[in-house]
Amino acid sequence: MPSPRLPMLLTLLQICCAASARITVNSTPSLSFDVLSGGNNNYFLRDNLTSAQLLLSSPNNTNKARRLVVALPAGNSGALVYFLPSTSNPLGVTLVDGSFKSATADYFNAGIQADLAFDGNATLGVAVIGAVRAMRDYVEGRTIHSVFNYTLGEYNDTSVRLHRQWINTTSPTSSLYKGADVYLTVPAESSARLVVTPAKNDTRNPPAVDIVVPSAADAEASARTLRVTVVTNETSLTGLDTQALFLPENERDGTRALETALQGLADGTNVAAQQVSFLTYVDKFTAGGWRFLTYFGRDSLIALRLLMPTLTSEAIESALGAVIERANSTGAFCHEETIGDYASLVNMGNGHPELGNQPYYDYKACSTFNVLFHVDLTSLLDDRHCVTLTQVSDLLLLPALSHYFLELPQGKKRTARFFKKTALLQNGTYAEILNRTIHYNLQRAIPFSQSPKASNLIGLRPGQSAGNWRDSNQGLGHGFYPFDVNTALVPASLRATQHLLEAGVLDFARLNASEVAAVASVWEAQAPALFDVTVNSTNAEARLKNFVSVAGLSTALLNSTSNTTTANVSFYALSLKKDGTPVEVLNSDLSFNLVYGANVSRVFLQHVVDALQPYPRGLLTNIGMVVANPAYDSDTSLIGVLNRAAYHGTVVWSFQQGLMASGLARQLGFCSQDNVTTVDTNTPPSQTPEWCSDTAFVQSLRDAQTRLWTSIRGAEDEIYSEVWSYSFDNATNTFSVADLASFSGTESDAIQLWSYGFLGLLDPSSDDCADRG
Ligand SMILES: *[C@@H]1O[C@H](CO)[C@@H](O)[C@H](O)[C@H]1NC(C)=O
Ligand SMILES: *[C@@H]1O[C@H](CO)[C@@H](O)[C@H](O)[C@H]1NC(C)=O
Ligand SMILES: *[C@@H]1O[C@H](CO)[C@@H](O)[C@H](O)[C@H]1NC(C)=O
Ligand SMILES: *[C@@H]1O[C@H](CO)[C@@H](O)[C@H](O)[C@H]1NC(C)=O
Ligand SMILES: *[C@@H]1O[C@H](CO)[C@@H](O)[C@H](O)[C@H]1NC(C)=O
Ligand SMILES: *[C@@H]1O[C@H](CO)[C@@H](O)[C@H](O)[C@H]1NC(C)=O
Ligand SMILES: *[C@@H]1O[C@H](CO)[C@@H](O)[C@H](O)[C@H]1NC(C)=O
Ligand SMILES: *[C@@H]1O[C@H](CO)[C@@H](O)[C@H](O)[C@H]1NC(C)=O
Ligand SMILES: *[C@@H]1O[C@H](CO)[C@@H](O)[C@H](O)[C@H]1NC(C)=O
Ligand SMILES: *[C@@H]1O[C@H](CO)[C@@H](O)[C@H](O)[C@H]1NC(C)=O
Ligand SMILES: *[C@@H]1O[C@H](CO)[C@@H](O)[C@H](O)[C@H]1NC(C)=O
Ligand SMILES: *[C@@H]1O[C@H](CO)[C@@H](O)[C@H](O)[C@H]1NC(C)=O
Repeated sequence: MPSPRLPMLLTLLQICCAASARITVNSTPSLSFDVLSGGNNNYFLRDNLTSAQLLLSSPNNTNKARRLVVALPAGNSGALVYFLPSTSNPLGVTLVDGSFKSATADYFNAGIQADLAFDGNATLGVAVIGAVRAMRDYVEGRTIHSVFNYTLGEYNDTSVRLHRQWINTTSPTSSLYKGADVYLTVPAESSARLVVTPAKNDTRNPPAVDIVVPSAADAEASARTLRVTVVTNETSLTGLDTQALFLPENERDGTRALETALQGLADGTNVAAQQVSFLTYVDKFTAGGWRFLTYFGRDSLIALRLLMPTLTSEAIESALGAVIERANSTGAFCHEETIGDYASLVNMGNGHPELGNQPYYDYKACSTFNVLFHVDLTSLLDDRHCVTLTQVSDLLLLPALSHYFLELPQGKKRTARFFKKTALLQNGTYAEILNRTIHYNLQRAIPFSQSPKASNLIGLRPGQSAGNWRDSNQGLGHGFYPFDVNTALVPASLRATQHLLEAGVLDFARLNASEVAAVASVWEAQAPALFDVTVNSTNAEARLKNFVSVAGLSTALLNSTSNTTTANVSFYALSLKKDGTPVEVLNSDLSFNLVYGANVSRVFLQHVVDALQPYPRGLLTNIGMVVANPAYDSDTSLIGVLNRAAYHGTVVWSFQQGLMASGLARQLGFCSQDNVTTVDTNTPPSQTPEWCSDTAFVQSLRDAQTRLWTSIRGAEDEIYSEVWSYSFDNATNTFSVADLASFSGTESDAIQLWSYGFLGLLDPSSDDCADRG
């Protein structure tokens, strides 16, 4: 496993309190770390006043403009500010060491301040202040909604205030104060000056702001600094500190693997543990920074599944509770929670301005932006003011509950208390809310169990182009029935329900476990075959040759694997189109079946072994596993759609590697338990799978596992980020990591919750594993 960087942030206080993991509600501890990712330097802090991420273009970033992003989970708010060079020379803007701090300001606001050193004169470019969603709309689509305009506040030659007044607020008496501000001020030691020229007619148009600094010859760097303060009136969230999140190292008699995995987590000496802590709060887990510092159901549940063996009961239950709290009255779960100023815009767009900035719960898996501008919403609104359109969160909850309550020591004897809990965000107990989800999922699964044909599978929700984890318009290759939802998650949700019923903890659901099991077994037995794709060897070789040429790769990549040229190629489609025909894209979603599935067949596992071949025959590059590979597709148009610039194309998503690695460990663990490398606890099936006795087959799975980890280690420094792309070197026929943002409008988050699933995994093929024990 990647060796964690180890800043010595351990305090005596943390050591003495490590044994009692509990959620501290009144004060949050300090977190402070930074991460270099893509072309950006990212700085993070959390204290009792605020939590914030600050991003600044790296000095070597080739964009001429320097970009500052500040994102706060409080209200999912912040600011995006560009600094443009005043001359044709490149501009350097760097953070002054130690200057990034929490700050308060007028109007009862709180947030952060940071001193930036300018190496040249600059002009303020576009500034989007307030909602992180509005900032993303600008970064990803160059869209500025005028409803989010800021106004010019007081200014002189050493200070300027840019004010964003919230569209509206639920507390009218203090409405004047509700908003966000960016202040640019000149610190005492600096001789920088501001030249502010208001727009002629209207303070709602951007002012011209010039930043004038003395030349390097005339002054020290400290004389060329400008202080940026970003504050908001949104209430800061209470964070989960590393001790509240992670099990202590030595408290329990865990397996050797678990003990190894827990090193450095609770005490925060492993900086990755601090990063997870930054993303997690008492009320909810957020998905990633800076773009997704808000609640996402799917991300919370997938991250939770991988991290769960290392987490405390309290942390697990706060993540599970956050999901349950956000169910609608049918039992569907929220995909993305939109809060703060952007919620006002969405509510207005939905024809409900009277809701003000009440949170908006998005029940599908694609961006609110699409909903807002491309779909007629009024017909889709449900009883919690949401557009109800992903199946993923709905289907992931029961497997998470079952793993927690039935398989992990942390969940033992916790069911009664948990199910009795009264929800805060809606009426009812957790049991009552969960009951709706159980019945909702079962009802949706019954048609296929009675007549197993494609049209009875679960498709995208009305008007949507996305509905599984691949939530871009092209992510499913324009398919309608996602593979993972139908082959892995529907049966997994039913099996989890069955097991919880058998354990006697879901009596309130009034269901018969064997009837639920019967529905699940039809899905398990029948659904995967509908996604079968076989390409004969002649076609496969021809398509691979065409693919490497179109994708700018080399035919040498095809020679590296021996002796596959005479065999047909078989794999599972990424999705099915509405008419049931497969989208012939090789993909990584088999990982879901390995982690969540019961009765995973030998045929299925053979497809996993085949997929874990070197790219482009398979998915593995020397810098990670790509999530989609359109090389074998008879529809060659998808080569351009799912390329290395596409968010869900031939790019590496770290959490998918984590799921694949976790799933392989789980399946292999059904043949023989391995306490040294398997961190998670998975109950083996009552009957050992038949393939376990085939030593050659088991060895082929182990070899695939080794290849996967070799590929993962190839981009070790990236594994906690969201997604990366590649550059290909024709001379060496190797891939190197490339920032996705250098090919597309979409950038990767430097820290992404579900990528930290690696903290619950050990690399079985590395000595590291033994070392860490
Ligand atoms: C926050 O922490 C600082 C330093 O630890 C302390 O001085 C201050 O009183 C705390 N503020 C609140 C509101 O708890
Ligand atoms: C800048 O340097 C960092 C660290 O060496 C590297 O990861 C990044 O790719 C570089 N970016 C550019 C645009 O060269
Ligand atoms: C400039 O404005 C700031 C903030 O309003 C104020 O504190 C400062 O005294 C002003 N400076 C001058 C020279 O007026
Ligand atoms: C000011 O606004 C008026 C009316 O909207 C417009 O005609 C005029 O051109 C504007 N002046 C400037 C300098 O933008
Ligand atoms: C206000 O919105 C308009 C229309 O989108 C835009 O042209 C203008 O630049 C915005 N002003 C500010 C201060 O962002
Ligand atoms: C910025 O502009 C001022 C005035 O034009 C000039 O004196 C100064 O040298 C410039 N600063 C730099 C770093 O070039
Ligand atoms: C926001 O405004 C209210 C007053 O309306 C104040 O009590 C609160 O402390 C303010 N600040 C923050 C950061 O919530
Ligand atoms: C929110 O602001 C919009 C636009 O000004 C307005 O139509 C709506 O009535 C406001 N809602 C509330 C609850 O104040
Ligand atoms: C809840 O969401 C589901 C999934 O989109 C939808 O089918 C259902 O109608 C919603 N429930 C209500 C009461 O609106
Ligand atoms: C809770 O139930 C009450 C009484 O039926 C109802 O008035 C209220 O709107 C419900 N609240 C929520 C958040 O659904
Ligand atoms: C759960 O749902 C079933 C079917 O709708 C119903 O019979 C049962 O009473 C419900 N239980 C609770 C606790 O709401
Ligand atoms: C593969 O299928 C193509 C038609 O798509 C056919 O022409 C070719 O002969 C087949 N090759 C083999 C080896 O079966």
